[in-house]
Amino acid sequence: MRKIVIAIDGYSACGKSSTAKEVSNILGYRYIDTGAMYRAVTLYFLDHHVATTNPKEVGKALQDIHISFKINSKNKSETYLNGLNVEKAIRTMRVSEMVSPVSTIKDVRVAMVEQQRRMGKERGVVMDGRDIGTVVFPHADLKVFMNADLLTRAFRRQKELLDRDQMVDLDEVVENILQRDKIDTTRAESPLRQAEDAVVLDTTHVTLEEQVDEVVRMALAKMVMP
Ligand code: DC
Repeated sequence: MRKIVIAIDGYSACGKSSTAKEVSNILGYRYIDTGAMYRAVTLYFLDHHVATTNPKEVGKALQDIHISFKINSKNKSETYLNGLNVEKAIRTMRVSEMVSPVSTIKDVRVAMVEQQRRMGKERGVVMDGRDIGTVVFPHADLKVFMNADLLTRAFRRQKELLDRDQMVDLDEVVENILQRDKIDTTRAESPLRQAEDAVVLDTTHVTLEEQVDEVVRMALAKMVMP
């Protein structure tokens, strides 16, 4: 079977990462969480007090940022920033509140897209984000666009934060999701939008297992194509 590129895009907290991770495990593919890359950049900018309005400072910082992924002992992909495991630090509200503004910066996007294309060059990859099917891999073999209603997304994100020992009010989670959706869909540089040839997957009333089965089924159909 041929190796394909699977692009999963969609709104914040609608289950993209959980689905993409499972699908990549089942297919034996590499999983690239591009949101984690923008989060790692944001963490670096915050920790190093980078003035995001100063292109020189941003450019210099981007040269000093090296992001990689490693598989841990539980077979989960974790994000590394300059050799340090930042998987937990990038999921905090501190980073969530700044990541959308940071990801509107053109130079940040250019640097990330270049790395993402390199990471997916060998194919056999599941990549999730906001612009994978439209900008990073416009010729991806399978494009999925995910969505779910706002409260469902907020509950899921709140539970995810609780699993990481972070107690956050539901109102705060809703507010953050709304803010990020707004910035992500209205920014000038590669805004979040559904690729014309993407399959839409609404996950409001669907379990993770069902989402995963659906994507794997579509992927297998593409993989056996000549
Ligand atoms: O998937 P996530 O919620 O971890 O993504 C965090 C933010 O990163 C999201 O609000 C917008 C940005 N992002 C982006 O602009 N482009 C991507 N391909 C992935 C994420």
